[in-house]
Amino acid sequence: MRNVTLEQIFEHPVTQKYVKRAGLAHAIATSYHAFRLAEKNGVNPDLAVKAAFLHDMGHYTWYRDGEWDFDLYKENDIHAIKGAERAHKLLIRLGEDPRHAKEIALAVLLHTDSFLPVEHEQLNLSTLQQIVALADELDEEPSGQHHYRSISEAKARKKIVELDNRVDETLREKIHHQTNEV
Ligand SMILES: [Fe+2]
Ligand SMILES: [Fe+2]
Repeated sequence: MRNVTLEQIFEHPVTQKYVKRAGLAHAIATSYHAFRLAEKNGVNPDLAVKAAFLHDMGHYTWYRDGEWDFDLYKENDIHAIKGAERAHKLLIRLGEDPRHAKEIALAVLLHTDSFLPVEHEQLNLSTLQQIVALADELDEEPSGQHHYRSISEAKARKKIVELDNRVDETLREKIHHQTNEV
């Protein structure tokens, strides 16, 4: 039913490197928020969870004299741009539908307005894009602490598989409703 599962994305070395760098626990929590919001708003949950899971994969660690430097980050960060590009490349490699890959990449790009010359409110964001931005916000902690929460590999995989199952279930129900309506 889906070209690519969240578990396949999770297993990929590119994800292991970049999603883990930005915080696996945050990526998973954001995906769960996105799933719930997608269900509530009639948005494709497959796109929402994938964009939410990958939203911070463009993060780079800004250090000065061996210490994380928040000012340096604020000044130079373009993680949403880098993340959108990485997410797109990864999804296409895994065989994602190119239209879906584009939608997911755009939601990653627009999950924050921190790098933009305008505020989120000034943009005409799609519902999917708003969901990913809100899901991220819901998991945010002061001073970026959400990037440092830890989760074991086993628990992370279990949560990913569980979310995959929930997405499949929702998509199955949708198809069932559609065929019943015909
Ligand atoms: Fe972010
Ligand atoms: Fe985030």
